[in-house]
Amino acid sequence: MTIHRGLNGVVVDRTAISHVDPDTNSLTYRGYPVQELVERCSFEQVAHLIWYGELPDLSQLQRFKAVERANRVLPRSLIDVLGRMPLSCHPMDVLRTAVSQIGADDPGEDANDPADHLAKAANLFAKLPTVVAVEQRRRRGLDPIPPDPSLNFAENFLHMATGRRPDAETTRAFETSLILYAEHGFNASTFTARVVTSTLSDMYSAVIAAIGALKGPLHGGANEAVLHMMEDIGDPSQVSTWLQEALDHRKLIMGFGHRVYKRGDSRVPIMRDALWRLAARHGDGARLTGIYTILAEHMLTQKNLHPNLDYPAGPAYHLMGLDTEIFTPVFVMSRITGWTAHIIEQSAGNALIRPLGHYDGSPQRTVPAPHSPS
Ligand code: ACO
Repeated sequence: MTIHRGLNGVVVDRTAISHVDPDTNSLTYRGYPVQELVERCSFEQVAHLIWYGELPDLSQLQRFKAVERANRVLPRSLIDVLGRMPLSCHPMDVLRTAVSQIGADDPGEDANDPADHLAKAANLFAKLPTVVAVEQRRRRGLDPIPPDPSLNFAENFLHMATGRRPDAETTRAFETSLILYAEHGFNASTFTARVVTSTLSDMYSAVIAAIGALKGPLHGGANEAVLHMMEDIGDPSQVSTWLQEALDHRKLIMGFGHRVYKRGDSRVPIMRDALWRLAARHGDGARLTGIYTILAEHMLTQKNLHPNLDYPAGPAYHLMGLDTEIFTPVFVMSRITGWTAHIIEQSAGNALIRPLGHYDGSPQRTVPAPHSPS
C-alpha cells in the first residue's frame, strides 16, 4: 500500500475552474492567464468569470455590479452578533461567525440548485468586505463607515476599512491582490469546502470550514505572519542574523515554499511589482522592500526556496493602511469566489470524498472483564 501523506501529488477529481501548471509556471482561470486578467480586467469581471465560466459582456457586468452593490449592507441581526464578538478573538473567527449568521438568516437551502448557490455566493461576496471593514474599525475603536454604492468593490472596501478614498494606484494594487488570490485549484481550503459539499451539506457550512482551513499559517494565515516576521526582523541590515537564528531553530520562514510550485509561484512577480509601486510612494516602503529583497536572496541560496504570493501581499496590505490581523480575512474576500465555484462544481458531479487511512495502532486485543464490585 502506498501512503500519500498530505495527499501530496494525488489527483482527486477533475475541475474546469483553474489550472496550476508548475512546469510552465502558469496559472489560468477558465483558460485565461492571470497575468492578462490582472492587466485587463476588474476584480468584478474576474469573479464573474470564475462563477459563470466566461467574462461578462457589458450588460452582464452592469447587472453583476448592481447585485454586488445592493447586497453590501449588513442586516441588523448580523451587526448585533458582530458587536458581541470579543476583541480577543481573531478576525478570522469573526468572519467564520459572520458566515454562520448569514446562513442562519437564509431561509432556504437547496444543496443541488446552482442558481440558489450562485445567489448565496453573490450575497457572501458582497457582504464579507463590509464585515471585514467593520471589524478593522471596531478594533481601532472607530464607528463603521457605510458602503458607498458609487465605488467599485476594491475602492469601497478600502474606503470602509481605512476611512480614506483610495487613489488609483492603491486601488489597482489591491485589485491585483484580489485577482491573484481568487482561485488556486485544490488547495487546502478549497479542498475542505469540497469535502464538506461532498456530504451534501450546505454552502455556508462548506465556506465556514474553508475559512477554518485558510486561517492556518501554512495556508492563508501566512500573509499576516509575513508582516509579523518583517517587523520582527526590523531592518534590512538584520536579515542575515535573523535568518540564521531562525533556521538554526528549524523555524519555517513565512511566505516561502509551496506544495505545488517548486520553482517559484507564478503570482509573485505581479504582486511584487504592485508592492514596489506602493513602496515608492510610502515612507516605510524602502525598509520593507529592503527586507523583502535580502531575505528572498538568502532563502534561495541557503534553502532553494522561492517566495509564494503571501510574501509580497503581506507588506503590500500594510502599505495600503490595512491592519495586519485583517490580511487573511481579505484573502477570504477574494477566495470566496473560488471556494463557491468549487462548491457548485462539486455539487454538480458529486462523489463523496472519503479516503482511507493505514492503521498502525495496537493489534486487536480483548477488552478486560469488568471488575466485580467488592
Ligand atoms: N521555511 C523553512 N523551511 C521550509 C519552508 C519554509 N517556508 N518551506 C518548506 N521548507 C522545508 C521543509 O521543512 C522541508 O524540509 P525537510 O525536508 O528538511 O523536512 C522541505 O523544505 C520541503 O518542504 P515540504 O515539507 O515538502 O513542503 P510542503 O509542500 O509540505 O509545504 C508549505 C508547503 C506548507 C507552503 C511550506 O513551504 C511552508 O510551511 N511554508 C511557510 C508557510 C507559507 O508561506 N504558507 C503559504 C502557502 S501559499 C498560500 O497559501 C497562498
